[in-house]
Amino acid sequence: MIVRVLAVIGTLGLVLASCSSSSVPEDAASAPPGFRGLFEDDTAPPLPALNVYQIAAGKNLYAENCASCHRADLAGDPNWMTPDENGVYPPPPHDATGHTWHHDDGLLLGIIRDGLQGFPSGMPTFAGILTDDEILSILEFLKSEWGDEERTFQWQATWRVRESRTSQP
Ligand code: HEC
Repeated sequence: MIVRVLAVIGTLGLVLASCSSSSVPEDAASAPPGFRGLFEDDTAPPLPALNVYQIAAGKNLYAENCASCHRADLAGDPNWMTPDENGVYPPPPHDATGHTWHHDDGLLLGIIRDGLQGFPSGMPTFAGILTDDEILSILEFLKSEWGDEERTFQWQATWRVRESRTSQP
């Protein structure tokens, strides 16, 4: 458990460092260099189809639990890249203009369930409020709002992490 949490924090630190430094890429092809290589990865299976039932459930759960901060249209706070005087960032977008799609499924599940630890953050924890299945439905809904490039990118990131876990002794 501790190892998993530390892994999440470690990965996220890297990810946030690369995401917050400059303007958000217009599309995945202009993603920071660390991400670009994912598009050359041809070992991932084709993009899986989304599950319409999960999307419908996730849409309702998002409206009830997330929209108050991240906005009903997923646009987040317009000033999401500017921290307040305490160093706390406003809620970021979850649409294609944000960086949610830069992260693999496991990392996103961890952030939503356990929050962001190790620094002051306005993101609440949903452990005990939403089940993992409900969180995955919300992710399915978010994915349904992304374009093919963002979805492919996020799927390849998810695939890589899954592969690296299963190939460990
Ligand atoms: C009380 C306001 C609030 C609510 C409610 C909330 N969030 Fe957040 N969320 C935030 C803030 C603020 C951040 C930015 C945290 C940071 O960078 O310190 C954030 C960050 C995130 C991130 C990481 C950034 C990213 O885009 O990868 C994810 C994922 C996320 N929220 C998903 C959700 C989901 C899904 C829900 C509903 C289940 C939710 N949030 C509900 C405020 C909220």
